Amino acid sequence: MALRPRTRRARSALLVLAAALAVVAGVLVGGGTSQAATSQPCDIYAAGGTPCVAAHSTTRALYGSYNGPLYQVRRASDNTTRDVGLLSAGGYVDAAAQDTFCANTNCLITIIYDQSGRNNRLTQAPPGGFQGPAAGGYDNLADAKAAPITIAGHKAYGVFVAPGTGYRNNTTNGVAKGDQPEGMYAVFDGTHYNGGCCFDYGNAETNSRDNGNGTMEAIYFGNIKVWGYGTGNGPWVMADLENGLFSGVNPGYNANDPSVSHRFLTAIVKGEPNHWAIRAGNAQSGGLSTYYNGARPNAAGYNPMKKEGAIILGIGGDNSHGSAGTFYEGVMTSGYPTDATENAVQANINAAGYATSSNGNGGTLTPGSTVSLRATTACCTTRYITHSGNAVATSVITASSSSTDKGNGSWIVRAGLANGTCVSFESRNTAGSFLRHQNYQLYLQANDGSSLFASDATFCPQAGKNGQGNSFASANFSSRFIRHYGNNVYIASNGGSNTFDATSLWTDDVSWVVTTPWAP
Ligand code: AHR
Repeated sequence: MALRPRTRRARSALLVLAAALAVVAGVLVGGGTSQAATSQPCDIYAAGGTPCVAAHSTTRALYGSYNGPLYQVRRASDNTTRDVGLLSAGGYVDAAAQDTFCANTNCLITIIYDQSGRNNRLTQAPPGGFQGPAAGGYDNLADAKAAPITIAGHKAYGVFVAPGTGYRNNTTNGVAKGDQPEGMYAVFDGTHYNGGCCFDYGNAETNSRDNGNGTMEAIYFGNIKVWGYGTGNGPWVMADLENGLFSGVNPGYNANDPSVSHRFLTAIVKGEPNHWAIRAGNAQSGGLSTYYNGARPNAAGYNPMKKEGAIILGIGGDNSHGSAGTFYEGVMTSGYPTDATENAVQANINAAGYATSSNGNGGTLTPGSTVSLRATTACCTTRYITHSGNAVATSVITASSSSTDKGNGSWIVRAGLANGTCVSFESRNTAGSFLRHQNYQLYLQANDGSSLFASDATFCPQAGKNGQGNSFASANFSSRFIRHYGNNVYIASNGGSNTFDATSLWTDDVSWVVTTPWAP
């Protein structure tokens, strides 16, 4: 017998509640080290009547019963591939499989499998409105080792999208078309972004070209202001609806879309006829906030929508590939999910246990550990503090960099030579030589044992001035912080008399993400 709408809604709400309770039970039983195989995000969406039609993750199963591969890597040494799967059905990635296969060589992520059973997998994005930088105009593939984290204590890797990187599927199955309702969420690294177009995950054109307003509906994350933006300096979660990133009902500024920078960020966009929403939250704890929930934008061409049903990751609909970001998991649904369903999914994401640790993305400033120091300014998120001889600069380091360059971009954290509550950075490749400033510029020099050297080589970490990573105050010029400027490295004050003291971009230029080292 057909259920009446109210009864159907009530039954859906009960099923979502039951699914959410199963998540909580799983956490209690699992003690945080293993995860219940009963109810994962796509089980929760299904219980809410809005099943997943695509489910992508490099970190965990998105169905309690899923036991297939998560992604495929290809290694440089012999060009062979290997699927990376799960430790157990419904559980976490077996990252050791990648580590073994990719030991002593570079690896790229070639396929991100679709767990939904619809084969909506993501592969190297083809050329479209814009040509990619790889052979044949394809986009680059992600470095499989570039975004290490832990999840419930298990090692895992995200999809690190440097500009030029992109994934796509133009022949999907079951993804919303036209004005059909859909939802999507993704978990991103909220500290990795830039102002290029467009770090997206979601629905796009099937020919990789700009087919006009309303031909996309994807989650965007970053701080580009060409189209929409919200409060603060970004980054913002917005909806890419083609020829426009929307932060609310108005093109351009919408006051309710805040800058968000959780290290692990849950981002949501959903849309149905003349109605859409943006929601987001901290993927590690707490609920979701709604930044927009209302009518389609006040601009021509977005009502009704003309969605085409391709899926993109890390690029714009027309294959614009200037953007940066990191993706861990995400799904697309058939039907417009309720807020209650998404709240239950957020509880599941919280329980999954995303973390950085000394084994994960964030290196720690613990004396004795080795780290790399990555710039956070939008221009430069692939640049690290490096030295070449005594000269210190920021340089791009990738998995394909030489082992010398990787070592020159890796630093052993030492208790501060002048103040043990601060730190000094000893070169990984040149034992006994430290980062120190001289005439406000940073150099690598051997420790001469003097008290001046000790002070010049001591830096006191504090929270990053732009909300990311750390800023490092000079021990003997406490208003000056390690800053990159023109790819050189200084200790700079905010608005002093030197060119490198410029106020513009100061907070970004003095903020560094402490990562696992390029050379352990
Ligand atoms: O809507 C913003 C961007 O505009 C789209 O991602 C891209 O297709 C176009 O350049």
